[in-house]
Amino acid sequence: MPDPTAVNSMFARIARRYDFANRLLSGGMDVRWRKHLVEAVIKASPDAVIDLATGSGDVAFALSRRLPATAKIIGMDFCRPMLDEAEGKKAAAPEFGNVTFREGDALALPLTDASCDAITIAFGLRNLADRDRGLREMHRVLRPGGTLHILEFSQPHRWFRGLYYFYLRRLLPSIAGWVTGDRPAYDYLNQTIGGFPSRSEISREVQAAGFSQVTARPLTFGIVALHAATKPGGGVS
Ligand SMILES: C[S@@+](CC[C@H](N)C(=O)[O-])C[C@H]1O[C@@H](n2cnc3c(N)ncnc32)[C@H](O)[C@@H]1O
Repeated sequence: MPDPTAVNSMFARIARRYDFANRLLSGGMDVRWRKHLVEAVIKASPDAVIDLATGSGDVAFALSRRLPATAKIIGMDFCRPMLDEAEGKKAAAPEFGNVTFREGDALALPLTDASCDAITIAFGLRNLADRDRGLREMHRVLRPGGTLHILEFSQPHRWFRGLYYFYLRRLLPSIAGWVTGDRPAYDYLNQTIGGFPSRSEISREVQAAGFSQVTARPLTFGIVALHAATKPGGGVS
């Protein structure tokens, strides 16, 4: 699993060009994938949402657009320069008054037990140094009946793999290296995507961390997957 110090400093290096690189390298699909995530979250009308590994805050902002102003959204990340990008975007858009950003490690969340209704983590699970510990922390801070939503790269459908892996391994690191000036960061991206477990393995890990009703939905030919799960208890919600 990734070394947290290396992950932190890598995101610190690419923070300023992170959004631009995302849009370019995904052809804008990253925005659509986050919209799917947000649609899933808002179904339960949560009052308190934590967006883990929030990075430059795009999921937190997308949630803010779709939830009432009374809903509290916290974007949390352990990389200060990524949070600085998020804070910069918030300062330019006063409508995001219900979003706050906090520094915090997903493996030791600075949050009390059962303190939130929903947790999101987009393109973050792959970067955690200890996935099981991270998932157990998410379980701890969710209230019973609360929901976890994971958006992450996955394995594309078989017929699409050749083309996709050619792009991921051959084209993407060069394009990203040119755009961000940091090719090693995108070599890391392609390695972690290639080595990430299947949807069924991730579902098993989520269940092993104490969650129930685990579902996995492939998006865009399976390039990414949206997992949802519930912390048991809390009656009917
Ligand atoms: C690929 S970015 C995803 C950012 C954002 N969620 C998005 O959708 O664009 C991954 C983020 O995970 C953060 N991260 C990695 N490990 C973390 C940890 N243990 N605790 C908190 N944040 C972490 C990194 O700092 C980085 O900002």
